[in-house]
Amino acid sequence: MQDIKKRARERVKTKCKVCPVCNGVACAGDVPGMGGIGTGVSFQNNVKALAALRLAMRVLHEANDPDCSAELFGRKLSLPVLAAPVGNVPGNLGSDFSDKEYFDALLRGCREAGTIASLGDTPDLERFKSSVRQIGDYGHFVIPFIKPWAEEQVLQRMTAAKAAGCDMCGTDVDSAGLTILRRAVPPVRVWSPKELASVIQKAHELGMKFIVKGVMTPDEAVIAADAGADAVIVSNHGGRVLDHTPGAAEVLPSIADAVGNRVVVMMDGGIRTGADVLKALALGAKTVLICRPIVVIAHGDAQTGISKYFAQIRDELTQAMRLTGCANLGAITRRAVS
Ligand SMILES: Cc1cc2nc3c(=O)[nH]c(=O)nc-3n(C[C@H](O)[C@H](O)[C@H](O)COP(=O)(O)O)c2cc1C
Repeated sequence: MQDIKKRARERVKTKCKVCPVCNGVACAGDVPGMGGIGTGVSFQNNVKALAALRLAMRVLHEANDPDCSAELFGRKLSLPVLAAPVGNVPGNLGSDFSDKEYFDALLRGCREAGTIASLGDTPDLERFKSSVRQIGDYGHFVIPFIKPWAEEQVLQRMTAAKAAGCDMCGTDVDSAGLTILRRAVPPVRVWSPKELASVIQKAHELGMKFIVKGVMTPDEAVIAADAGADAVIVSNHGGRVLDHTPGAAEVLPSIADAVGNRVVVMMDGGIRTGADVLKALALGAKTVLICRPIVVIAHGDAQTGISKYFAQIRDELTQAMRLTGCANLGAITRRAVS
């Protein structure tokens, strides 16, 4: 992994230092780039919130061989960790990796690792359509995250994704805060609860599960559930849309409590190790997503780097479960953290 990171550093050095811990300090304010917006505090809070949690060590139990396999909407996953969506890889990383090459590596790496890949969106409908055509026979394991455009634009993308074999999709509703996309044609916008419900209904009519990404308060999680969402992702978009937000792990427990079993609760922001995954699951997430480390690792060794990174996370998670007495993911509860 160190060699892979070294190679990645050479390739992305103008935009990302590939720090020992990817925590948003060196890249504060680098948006576009790999950082968090403004002071960078929202990104840093994601990492700090997880680092502040302690694991309760338990070593007298039956969980010697924990099972960290997961399930999402009926799909079996080898671990409860998905690849998060990322847009404009060459622009944000300052690299020679095209979006097409990155997505190809991601699809192969996620397939090897036994997990789900996500696809980011762009104002250019034809570019989006060309990405979904890359998905091949892995559609059942890909989540396209469509930006909060006007409904007609969203419907065109959902229809293209469905034709490519996807039966899950979502919207990063917090992208309404991305200045560059507010000025784009078409522009992103803040959706009303009614607009959200209408989009979700269209997704369901197409036979697709719908995930709302970018929920940071219990009341908005309830709005998403009331609108018919199948899942919410507790996320501040890696701290890229609004400065001075809490870390996702800080707000996760209250959001999980507010929606209970009405929707699947997912989370991203600052997950870097298997111990972080266990912490997020203990706070109420069913699965988590990782973005920056995966994009960086892909620059070091494409799909092999990605699948090795997932394997490392799986090993770390298994060890953390063994040493906290959790035989399977269902056994991870708040008593695992303090
Ligand atoms: C360069 C970059 C581009 C991103 N592009 C998207 C995107 O197109 N759609 C989206 O939903 N999230 C996007 N995100 C947010 C990530 O999916 C994720 O929510 C966030 O980075 C938190 O995870 P991390 O701390 O593991 O990076 C992007 C993040 C980065 C760093």
